[in-house]
Amino acid sequence: MSSFAQIAIFASGSGTNAQAVIQYFQHHPFIKINLLLSNNAEAKVLERAMALGVDTFVFTKSQFRESDEVLNELKRRKITHMVLAGFLLQVPTHFIKAFPDRIINIHPSLLPKFGGKGMYGIKVQEAVKVAGEYETGITIHEVNEHYDEGKIIFQAACKVESADTHFDIAKRVQELEHQHFPRIIEQWLKN
Ligand code: GAR
Repeated sequence: MSSFAQIAIFASGSGTNAQAVIQYFQHHPFIKINLLLSNNAEAKVLERAMALGVDTFVFTKSQFRESDEVLNELKRRKITHMVLAGFLLQVPTHFIKAFPDRIINIHPSLLPKFGGKGMYGIKVQEAVKVAGEYETGITIHEVNEHYDEGKIIFQAACKVESADTHFDIAKRVQELEHQHFPRIIEQWLKN
C-alpha cells in the first residue's frame, strides 16, 4: 500500500458488518476508518460507530442523489475509498466517477444469484429458501452503475440444509461476512 487509506463506510441498518470492519482496523498502521455515513437517522449502525469513536454523518436520499453535499464531505475529509456495508441506496454516478474502482460492497448471496434491485438483507435469504438452494454465501465486489454487477473480488459459500429457515441461513451467511469482509477490504486496499 503506497499511502494512507482513509475509509468512509456507508450503512443503512443494524451495522454488524460496519462494526466488524471498524474493530478490525482500529489500530491499523495504514488504514483508517474516518467516517460512517447513513441515509437512516434511526439506524443502529450510528450508535455502533459512535461507541467505537468513529464520526457519523446522516443525509437524505435527495442530498445523496441530487446534491454534492455528501461528496463534498468526503472530499473535505480526504476520503480515498468507500465501503458499503448494508447500504440500501444505489450509488449515483457522480460518486462512481469520483471514486473509480474505489468503492466496495458486500452482498449476502453468491452473485449473480439473488442480486439486483430490491434484493437486500433477509429478503435475499427468503428467496434462497424459496428457490430450494443447496448452498449460498457471500460476494464482495466493486461497485459500478448497475446494482450488484461490479467486478467480483471474493466469494465464500456455505451449505443450506433443507430444514433451515431463512433466519438460519441469514445467521450462517452473516458469520461468513464478519469472518471475511474486513480481511478482504485490507487485501483490496493493498492491491
Ligand atoms: C448484510 O448481510 C449485507 O450483506 C447486506 O445487508 C446486510 C447488512 O447487515 N447487504 C445487501 O443486501 C446489499 N444488497 P448489517 O447491517 O448487520 O451489517
